[in-house]
Amino acid sequence: GEELAQLIDSMLRDVPDFPLPGVLFKDIAPLLADAAAFNACIDAFADLPAAFEADLIAGVEARGFVVAAAVARAVDAGVVPVRKAGKLPPPTVSARYELEYGSAEIEVPVGLLEGKRVYLVDDVLATGGTLAATIELLTRAGATITGVGVLVELSFLNGRQRLEGQDLTSLLVL
Ligand code: PRP
Ligand code: MG
Repeated sequence: GEELAQLIDSMLRDVPDFPLPGVLFKDIAPLLADAAAFNACIDAFADLPAAFEADLIAGVEARGFVVAAAVARAVDAGVVPVRKAGKLPPPTVSARYELEYGSAEIEVPVGLLEGKRVYLVDDVLATGGTLAATIELLTRAGATITGVGVLVELSFLNGRQRLEGQDLTSLLVL
């Protein structure tokens, strides 16, 4: 609720001009480093039917891994890594996507995902490129997405529009 959103907001550190000039970077490290705040975020996701009904929690490398593993423990689910291209052994499916700064390619393992119910988490929803590409990949690999959760949504970048049809939970909307 509003209280959790305020707690998260108070734990973010704004870093101007990182990693590029003109980008205001939202550093979540202080949030993750605070036991009470981190626990409150994980509990908020774990309370969602979309999360506790999932077989697997998927997290996007690298910052999404931290959230995914913790949520998986809380809901007694497994974890599946969504990785930067070239890190996973075959067979995989991959997609290229645009970021707020630059472009990237991600992959998911095929074989673990067929017929599985997957809750997808990441730290920040910015342009939505990362999560839209991830949803496409998980779907191609045969998974059903039960929902998507992020700690922070940067609403001025309109990423939510790219996740149309998904059950999206943002613990803090900026
Ligand atoms: C950041 C962030 C999200 C993504 C959001 O990850 O952790 O995954 O960007 O941006 P988008 O909504 O515009 O796609 P980044 O690719 O910088 O890598 P990291 O998690 O490894 O730090
Ligand atoms: Mg990331």
